[in-house]
Amino acid sequence: MDAFEAKERILNLRKILEDANYEYYVLANPSITDQEFDNYLRELENLEKEFPEFDDFNSPTKRVGGLVIDKFNKVKHKLPMLSLPDVFNEDEIRAFDERIRKNGFDPEYVCELKIDGVSGSFHYEEGILTMGVTRGDGTTGEDITHNVKTIKSLPLKLKKPVSIEVRGEIYMEKETLAKLNYEREKLNLNKLQNCRNATAGSIRQLDSKITAQRNLNTWIYHLPNPLDYDIHTHYEALEYMKSLGFKVNPCNRLVKNIDEILDFIHEYGEKREYLPYDIDGVVIKVNDLQMQQQLGFTSKYPRWAVAYKFPALEVLTKLKDIVFTVGRTGRITPNAVLDPVLVMGSTIKRASLHNEDYIIEKDLRIGDVVSIRKAGDVIPEVVEPKKERRTGKEIPFKMINNCPICNEPLGKKEGQVDHYCFNPNCPAKNIEKLIHFVSRNAMNIDGFGERIMEDFFNLGFIKNIDDIYHLDEHKKDLIELEGFGNKSVDNLLEAIFNSKNNSLERLLFGLGIEGIGDKTALLLARTFKTLDNLKEQTFEDLQKIKDIGPILAKNITDYFNKDENLELINKLKELKINMEYAGEEIQNNDLLTDKRFVITGTISFMTRDEIEKILDKYGAKPSSSVSSKTDFVIVGDSPGSKYQKAVDLNIPIWDEEHLRSVLTDLKEI
Ligand code: IVH
Repeated sequence: MDAFEAKERILNLRKILEDANYEYYVLANPSITDQEFDNYLRELENLEKEFPEFDDFNSPTKRVGGLVIDKFNKVKHKLPMLSLPDVFNEDEIRAFDERIRKNGFDPEYVCELKIDGVSGSFHYEEGILTMGVTRGDGTTGEDITHNVKTIKSLPLKLKKPVSIEVRGEIYMEKETLAKLNYEREKLNLNKLQNCRNATAGSIRQLDSKITAQRNLNTWIYHLPNPLDYDIHTHYEALEYMKSLGFKVNPCNRLVKNIDEILDFIHEYGEKREYLPYDIDGVVIKVNDLQMQQQLGFTSKYPRWAVAYKFPALEVLTKLKDIVFTVGRTGRITPNAVLDPVLVMGSTIKRASLHNEDYIIEKDLRIGDVVSIRKAGDVIPEVVEPKKERRTGKEIPFKMINNCPICNEPLGKKEGQVDHYCFNPNCPAKNIEKLIHFVSRNAMNIDGFGERIMEDFFNLGFIKNIDDIYHLDEHKKDLIELEGFGNKSVDNLLEAIFNSKNNSLERLLFGLGIEGIGDKTALLLARTFKTLDNLKEQTFEDLQKIKDIGPILAKNITDYFNKDENLELINKLKELKINMEYAGEEIQNNDLLTDKRFVITGTISFMTRDEIEKILDKYGAKPSSSVSSKTDFVIVGDSPGSKYQKAVDLNIPIWDEEHLRSVLTDLKEI
């Protein structure tokens, strides 16, 4: 082969390999086999060796790395690489939208996944990759060109010979991290904590061969100079970058209003764990670039975008101690005492460890570094100890034998893992019972924090539930208490008085019969109407109700067989606490009773609240997301993604017309 032919073949092979790379890594749709790819690559490597005059820094053969640098050169960004202000809830998203509207705009937005990686800037001259730079401090980054060339989803050559800078996220897929850690474990190397750390470590290697082995990836999401390319919206910019061969995330969505933003957040909050890469939120950007320009920047952030952060899934902290509390049923709960950590805007200091078996199974030791997860927004959970961070000084867990409050020996119920304090007079149990009685879903007495109840208990004002209704007798003493003024005492006493008129289900739930949650309490109240009537039901009678099994039936009859409980009920009766169901009756209806429904979009003739109230009368239950358990979906104008999900899952869809005819038949409209 002469030099002329060789050059032609080399260029041809580079094109074949870059196209194959694009199909495989960007489109995820290869048209040649791995074996064919390897053969072409080997042929190219051989030709480049034989004809070094045609070698090229940007040849696909360089993807395997090899270039080693001795230090990272600093590069000043032409435009600063800003980060985004974080928002954590719906209110903060609405405030962001309102700020923009106050400037006289009516914006459309683009919602994007917030990829949990490391941001990078990529420069091309006449279509050829010339430089990759880290974000650094936002003004100056580090030259990582040798490493970004190994990232197979980042084109070495664009589909058009343009000069351009694009920005995006360099990241590692979850599976890549798992494989990497598997290999590292075999070599006795420390495991890499997460995809972001692994990416950061991989991209800052002096030897690009190491980076090449880490299989990094990219999503491109920002074009710093859109006007140079006659582009007017961010969405167009994304499309344009895609057309050049960049990997642009297919989940990006153009949305018209807050509801659609919230739908997107909700959708990806659920899909998050099934994505092959980590995301830690959703980025919301004003679509119109002129609008962006007019909104401008603060000293730190653009005013036209925010990053909604999902609840952090896991953070690390130290398990300082394990302490025990006694529940109102006597159940002993071991609790993790943690070095306080901020998760999703709230500080976590404690987390339930449930029972002895749970701790032993996880092999938690006092002094361990543990990962904490804030599941589903509310309850913090200790996921696992980081065993690799143990020093040897950690103290293995040992279950206690006596109640931490009254010192009675603890025991277990047959077949259960939990320990119980069976002492009926254990003081701690009473405090818990009292807190439960006043809680929101029970008697809903505003102004009773846990601490206040503890104080009242310790001061002897409230020992039993009925004492709550005698609290007014201590009014003078209460006003004297630190932090408790005249007004707050009045408010509290009024709230206590008003609670006397609550419907039966609140009292029933508040009494704390084991296993009776607020929903079961409502079911019992609706079914039996009065407490006296419920009291008379036998074990067999109770089981005739759907959703009441033998365990609940036994708990209920056991409760009413105890003298102390009957005594309490009598006292409450004397205090004129309402003991009758005061809610609306369910009207049985084949189409609606016990059915689950979801509403999406706007119904022109009624608000969501009104629809839900009517359907509740017939025993239908609203839910916020569509699943295979949904019975029907009401679809109004501009529906969200729930509509598509309902179609995908083949769930009956009620349009406005159908809803109207159902409500007309029920004589509701
Ligand atoms: S836009 C001026 N879009 O999140 C616009 N950032 O605090 C700058 N990130 O530093 C960024 N996914 O590392 C943008 N779809 C996305 C993103 C994203 C992840 C990162 C990026 C940035 C940080 C924002």
